[in-house]
Amino acid sequence: MGDELHAEHREGRGDVEAERFWEDHYRGRERVWSGRPNPVLVDIAGSLRPGTALDLGCGEGGDAIWLARRGWRVTAVDVSTTALDRAAADAATAGVADRIDFRRHDLAVALPPGAFDLVSAQYLHSPIEFPRVRVLQKAAGAVTPGGLLLIVDHASVSPSSWAYPEETLAPLDLSPDGWRTERLEAREREATGPNGQRVTVTDNVVAVRSLAR
Ligand SMILES: C[S@@+](CC[C@H](N)C(=O)[O-])C[C@H]1O[C@@H](n2cnc3c(N)ncnc32)[C@H](O)[C@@H]1O
Repeated sequence: MGDELHAEHREGRGDVEAERFWEDHYRGRERVWSGRPNPVLVDIAGSLRPGTALDLGCGEGGDAIWLARRGWRVTAVDVSTTALDRAAADAATAGVADRIDFRRHDLAVALPPGAFDLVSAQYLHSPIEFPRVRVLQKAAGAVTPGGLLLIVDHASVSPSSWAYPEETLAPLDLSPDGWRTERLEAREREATGPNGQRVTVTDNVVAVRSLAR
């Protein structure tokens, strides 16, 4: 991870703040997520040959466990120890603990070293300061030649703000000589609203393949 990113992060709220926020978030509930893998990951990675995967902001591990079950070797990163502990316990129950390396990292400070055939960022949003574009640029740098960067975002990041998939991809500034865009789309899905009501929400999906050089 470059010094620039580190410097930008130091100017922000800092590692402690990210950890505290997300720890409180996870400790506040017995379970935050369903444990099921994200549908776009299932759709897109389901047809890929298993290799190495990096799951950024893995939460309670639903995606990492699904990938490991399909034969991937996964590095799964989150800033919350509580989330990682739950993910590791579920991975052990699923019999795939030996295929997942869970790591506590503040992604604003560093990504794990290495290169991966699939780098997945599913809803890597944070309500506190987070240098997301820089993190995703670093994530692109961690994709092996021929590998895939998959980003899935909430299209609505605040009640009054809507984003388009192009707005996720463009700031990454990926050279068209080095990358092929495989998916760039907004997708609707059914979800449960805050009062238990069924709602339709929109996700932005960006899948770009690093061209073998
Ligand atoms: C909206 S949740 C998504 C979780 C999971 N990817 C999913 O789709 O269910 C965002 C996740 O990113 C993690 N996260 C937020 N900021 C982070 C940071 N600076 N470094 C590492 N993980 C972070 C949070 O702890 C949380 O688990």
